[in-house]
Amino acid sequence: MTPPGMPVNLQWADGTLHILDQRRLPAQEAYLVCRSAGDVAAAIASLAVRGAPAIGLAGAYGIALAAGECGQDTARLRFLAETLARTRPTAVNLQRGVDAALRAALQVPAGDMARAALEAAHALHLQDAAVCQAIAEAGADLIPAGSWVLTHCHTGALATGGVGTALGAIGAARSRGMLHGVYACETRPLWQGARLTAWECDRRGIPCRLLVDGAAGMLLASGRCRAVLVGADRIAANGDVANKVGTYPLAVLAARHAVPFIVLAPWSSVDPCLPDGSRIPVEERDPGEVTAPVAPANTIAFNPAFDVTPGSLVSAIVTETGIYRRPYALRREAPNEGVPVAP
Ligand code: MRU
Repeated sequence: MTPPGMPVNLQWADGTLHILDQRRLPAQEAYLVCRSAGDVAAAIASLAVRGAPAIGLAGAYGIALAAGECGQDTARLRFLAETLARTRPTAVNLQRGVDAALRAALQVPAGDMARAALEAAHALHLQDAAVCQAIAEAGADLIPAGSWVLTHCHTGALATGGVGTALGAIGAARSRGMLHGVYACETRPLWQGARLTAWECDRRGIPCRLLVDGAAGMLLASGRCRAVLVGADRIAANGDVANKVGTYPLAVLAARHAVPFIVLAPWSSVDPCLPDGSRIPVEERDPGEVTAPVAPANTIAFNPAFDVTPGSLVSAIVTETGIYRRPYALRREAPNEGVPVAP
């Protein structure tokens, strides 16, 4: 599941969920031990675990803990499930992970709920590893040989149950000897690029050049990058993509400089019930994330965690079910309409 060189990010042990605390990386590799659904909700809300697929898995394991806490009380279990799913609203994977484990728990006698939820969480975890592998291989096929690419935020093993999505494809292309390396935006305000992508690239032997977010225009204009690869937190039926704030400007710049802009995500990030991105809930986080540590006291900040890139700017969407091209019409009942991904 975990690529060579990387520590395990999520592990069930002794009836508890061990989460590699991403807030402390790269300085420390420390694990947070979650003993209750509340612990998991706090870990997700505070970004100890982050990245759409990883929070979906954490949510599923959270239901296993919740079921253990609830005894026979299914109303309380449903309440804890809602609380968990609400901790971060943008990534649809969280709702999906919680729902899958809850469904499994509610299908069995009350005494077996915790076991059933845990089995569902383990199954999702294994599935995500396979899904990431498929996305990585299919995405690597789209990277021009001998190139550098640009990425944003962090989409690697830490953020998933496997090798990652966009960073998984970058790693696969590098292993094939096809990729020189990756430029990584630092990704303000929480530095996922600087803290996590740079660290994971170092661990995985992927050459990485870090840039401030504002340098992306200069980089793309220079012709040094042959593709932009990003992840997603939610994708609407028309291909509109919610991802870490700063993704949309990259898509505009990529279009301006005729650089392919590729989104890589599991099908569990696709929300075909939403016709477009206008109704994707965008999480706004604590303004202090923006103002600390340099802005004067009393500065008022605007801090959306995500933005929505129109599908018209997305050259391809790579999921484990296929590679989709615009104009997008992603439908729940037909996830296999994309060009099939090689096994
Ligand atoms: O707020 P975060 O750090 O959870 O946001 C993460 C992203 O936007 C990622 O790019 C996305 O979830 C894909 S993770 C494979």
